[in-house]
Amino acid sequence: MKLIDGKEIANQVKEEIKKEVSQIIDNDEKAPHLAAVLVGEDPASQTYVKNKEKACKRVGMISSVYNMSAETSQKELLETVDFLNNDPEIDGFIVQLPLPDHIDEDTIIQSIKPGKDVDGFHPVNLGKMMLGQPAFLSATPNGIMELLERSNIDTEGKHCVVLGRSNIVGRPISVLMSQKEKPGNATVTVCHSRTHNLEEYIKQADILIAAIGKQEFVTADMVKDNVVVIDVGIHRVTDDTKEKGYRLVGDVDFEGVKKKASAITPVPGGVGPMTIATLLKNTLKAAKKEV
Ligand code: GUN
Repeated sequence: MKLIDGKEIANQVKEEIKKEVSQIIDNDEKAPHLAAVLVGEDPASQTYVKNKEKACKRVGMISSVYNMSAETSQKELLETVDFLNNDPEIDGFIVQLPLPDHIDEDTIIQSIKPGKDVDGFHPVNLGKMMLGQPAFLSATPNGIMELLERSNIDTEGKHCVVLGRSNIVGRPISVLMSQKEKPGNATVTVCHSRTHNLEEYIKQADILIAAIGKQEFVTADMVKDNVVVIDVGIHRVTDDTKEKGYRLVGDVDFEGVKKKASAITPVPGGVGPMTIATLLKNTLKAAKKEV
């Protein structure tokens, strides 16, 4: 069994980005600049944004944060997005989600200039991805493709079963896995909450991508020998033996499934660490005007 070490691979990606950023700076060009808009004081969002700032610093990018109160109106947020869309100093930006209930997320996402949408959530970027054109790919699907590529997982002609059809993971990863690329060229089945006989599909998977948000749902008896498992889930389980009082688990029973898998991502330390690395990759692409 090969452990797909997301932390290690994310570090490799960040080191490569750091080298490219220092070359840009050595050429007397401006360092890439990523901005984040944070509305309200959700602690998880604050942590995400702090981690993004730290990651930017580490690779030599400029980062800025626009903190806005939870009472910010949709109009005010649209004005901030408009400012960032037009500020030539800023290469790419994200509006941290979730937004307060009185703000319509789709309206905000659609107001972001696609060429600066480093989250890859804008319909133009999703449409380009569908067509196989250069686009900003969102963090998790992008991170999964990077993990598969750098772990030399052969995907061509394989049966990839995706559990979950969300707009941010299941649906985009199903498109990427079926595209005529490497990694890709897989035969893809998307399973979801209404799928009949789910276990029959899971059993057929050469590559299983679990993104259903159900704690340790996939167990060893469900998978076939030598399956490649990518676990996107992240759940807190109370654990008094841990200092924090909890531990993290995924959508897959790691200890059981690893005995049958040929390769598997752990939780934590699998898909999670890749997300910031791919956001930085997108910011670099934005600065180089590659999308
Ligand atoms: N909230 C949790 N993850 C993300 C992300 O990747 N992008 C944005 N904008 N908000 C998030």
